[in-house]
Amino acid sequence: MSDERLLNPNPDESDQQAEKSLRPRKLAEFIGQGKVVEQLRIAITAAKARGEPLDHTLFYGPPGLGKTSLAGVVANEMGVNMKVTSGPAIERAGDLAAILTNLQKDDVLFIDEVHRLNRAVEEVLYPAMEDFALDLIVGKGPGARNLRLSLPRFTAVGATTRLALLTSPLRDRFVSVHRLEFYNDAAMHEIVARSARILGMPTTSEGAFEIGRRARGTPRIANRLLRRVRDYAQVVAQGEITLDVARAALDTLEVDELGLDENDRRLLRTIIELFEGGPVGLSTLAAALAEEVDAIEDVYEPFLLQLGFLQRTPRGRVATRRAYEHLDVPYVERTASNSDPDAPRQNRMW
Ligand SMILES: Nc1ncnc2c1ncn2[C@@H]1O[C@H](COP(=O)(O)OP(=O)(O)O)[C@@H](O)[C@H]1O
Ligand SMILES: [Mg+2]
Repeated sequence: MSDERLLNPNPDESDQQAEKSLRPRKLAEFIGQGKVVEQLRIAITAAKARGEPLDHTLFYGPPGLGKTSLAGVVANEMGVNMKVTSGPAIERAGDLAAILTNLQKDDVLFIDEVHRLNRAVEEVLYPAMEDFALDLIVGKGPGARNLRLSLPRFTAVGATTRLALLTSPLRDRFVSVHRLEFYNDAAMHEIVARSARILGMPTTSEGAFEIGRRARGTPRIANRLLRRVRDYAQVVAQGEITLDVARAALDTLEVDELGLDENDRRLLRTIIELFEGGPVGLSTLAAALAEEVDAIEDVYEPFLLQLGFLQRTPRGRVATRRAYEHLDVPYVERTASNSDPDAPRQNRMW
């Protein structure tokens, strides 16, 4: 599967350009995720009324759903600066210490991929988040002593696609934890219409709806599809994104009715054809697809799970009847012998 996968919810270079102009800056501009937005509105209003920084906040959920955008929204609404870093970018405890000592009072420190912080760095982060303190060891050997520096009060905002990989002490230090979900069709419609407006692309409401509907509930993918459909509209149609243009363009891009692309279908077909519908272990599946385990878990699976096309079982991944139906493959009822290799076979003679 290629890295330039059209429906990969991770950002590529052209997304990063477009995202600058499309990112919502205020809560009022942030479409969907009603529960999260409401809770944030209350927390922000209360913190501002007390004149305190917002409590440490964690956003989690699949890529492309708005975690980074929300971190920026929080900083904007609080009227403070945001410093941006990420788990893999902070290699040593000293790197984090440098970031922390450079914070201004009330700043938001956004830590993307916060599940990828290493242990030594986490140890520095705990007292920083809890007591706004930095513990340093000065000197070496028997003369070494502990020194505690106080830090300005700040708000840590973490983002992760994999809540389960967060250590529990780190997770516990986030006072509010918000799960982002795939967007429904109505929200996706609104998001596409807004992006089209900002990018100055003539789009009918039906055209925007069709793009949103086929973007796997993921704003980043919707914005990417919108740009591709625009190209198509410019070259093949008269520049306007109508329903027919959106349909034709998405068909050309091999994005199907449900928003699955060739790679999703290949994953499902591999389980069905190579592994008789599963269960197949994640690493076996990854090897068969020549894909990384992480990519399968982060990028491919969440939406297939949401559609009910895939099940995670203790024995591995299973393609469901719905997946067979979507791919037009006759469904074979799993019997004891093909669903559980350890189960006694009924038809065995010896
Ligand atoms: N609720 C939203 N309303 C409008 N656009 C959104 C929304 N959430 C995300 N987007 C768009 O999708 C893009 C990807 O969002 P981002 O915050 O980078 O996702 P994540 O950090 O979860 O991967 C943003 O640049 C923005 O244009
Ligand atoms: Mg992000």
